[in-house]
Order: sequence, then structure tokens, then C-alpha cells
Amino acid sequence: MRAGCGRFYGFGMTDTMTTTQAASPPSAAWLRVFALLYDPFLWLGEIAGLRRRRRALLRNARGRVVEIGAGTGLNAALYPDDIAELVLTEPDAAMRKRLARRLQRHGRGGARIVDAPAERLPLADASVDTVVSTLVLCTVPDPERTLREIARVLRPDGQLLFIEHVRANSRLLAALQDKLFQSWRRFAAGCCCNRPTVEVMRACGFIVVADDSVWRAMPAIVRPLSVGRASR
Ligand SMILES: C[S@@+](CC[C@H](N)C(=O)[O-])C[C@H]1O[C@@H](n2cnc3c(N)ncnc32)[C@H](O)[C@@H]1O
Repeated sequence: MRAGCGRFYGFGMTDTMTTTQAASPPSAAWLRVFALLYDPFLWLGEIAGLRRRRRALLRNARGRVVEIGAGTGLNAALYPDDIAELVLTEPDAAMRKRLARRLQRHGRGGARIVDAPAERLPLADASVDTVVSTLVLCTVPDPERTLREIARVLRPDGQLLFIEHVRANSRLLAALQDKLFQSWRRFAAGCCCNRPTVEVMRACGFIVVADDSVWRAMPAIVRPLSVGRASR
């Protein structure tokens, strides 16, 4: 496995294929079903610990906050009240619909939803204090471009707060992740279960402080979870 910002290989593919080349996008029909199933599928994992981790991480959000791939909005109610601004980006229409409903339910009226992929954020350079990514860097088609984009929008003292499942350290589990990569990716709307996301962050120039933990009540191939903070 090799990681580098600019060229990144792996994920159970041959060395000459990049993630972008190898990935055919999930069908629009499946994306709609996935958005519908997303909260029920995660429900047990949320109450078994992920929600607590989200809350603890987001306590550190400050200033102008931009969440990438906000999905159905499982983080929305967990942000501190004193952040200056909350921008929730999400490129998938079915997810955005659910996100808007959740914002209404939780009275987070000040938050703005933006239809944008994380690789192309419609935000000025050095204009953001906190970027949040939870379970998104596994799914973006181009993780390096996404990380460069995050670096572009962050102020010099800005931070990336993240919870990401990453490639396993255990050789056995990593081999299983490689084997099940394509099936999982089709099921989980583009999610790459074997992506060494923290390595890619470091290769892209981020300083990362993170802890590994177990995403309880979820399949072993999405272990470990890496929870932490990255800065430039
Ligand atoms: C596994 S879900 C995570 C949702 C949410 N962040 C959470 O913690 O529950 C992955 C999300 O990434 C979004 N996504 C897919 N491609 C993306 C991209 N290029 N840029 C940003 N988000 C993307 C999907 O639409 C989906 O909402």
C-alpha cells in the first residue's frame, strides 16, 4: 500500500489503477434507497457509541464550521451553540432532502445546506475555521483532491475534525477488506472499506492527532474507526 498526495493506490486494486479510475458511480436509484436506509442501518451503532463520539468530537468545533458530506444530518444537533456559522455540504439530492427535514426538526435554522462535492467547495480560500468529516473520506471519489480542497478553505490555524473508518492494521482484517471491497462499495454507495485515510491525510501535509476505536454494532470490515483532529 502506498499513499501520496497527488497519486494514491490501493483498495484491493492493481497498482496502476487510481481510485478514481476504478470507481464507477453508484446508480441514482440505489443512492435513493441508501439514503432511505441510512439512519436505520446506523441506528444501533449510533446508540452503541458513535453518537457519543460524534458529540465529543464536535464539542471542539469553533468559528465558521463547514461539514462535508453531511448526509442525513446525524451531526446537526450535536454542534455547540456558540459556533459562528454552520455550512452543511452534501452532493446527493436524496440525502439533502433528509438533511433539510432534520434541520427543521432540530431547529438549526441558521445552518445553510450547500449542494457541493467535497472536491469542489464553493468557498473562498482560508475562510473556514473548522471542517468536519464523519464517514465521508471513505466515500469521496477523490480523497486527495478533497484533502487539498479542505486545506485550501481552512484558515492557517484551522482544523479538520474527523471520524473515519480506515484500513485495518491487522493483516487478516485488511485482507478481508480488500476481498470485500467491491461488494461493500456497491452496497454502501461508494464507500471504500480499505482506504488508509489517515495516511493519505499525512501524505497531503496534514498533522494528524487521532485515536483508533471500534465502531460497535457494525461489520468488522469498517474497523477501526479513527477519531481525531488534523491541522496544517
Ligand atoms: C456514509 S455517509 C456519511 C454521512 C454523514 N457524514 C454521517 O456522518 O452520517 C457518506 C456521505 O458522503 C456523501 N458523499 C459522497 N460523495 C461525496 C463527495 N464527493 N463529496 C462530499 N460528500 C460526498 C454521500 O452523499 C453521503 O452523504
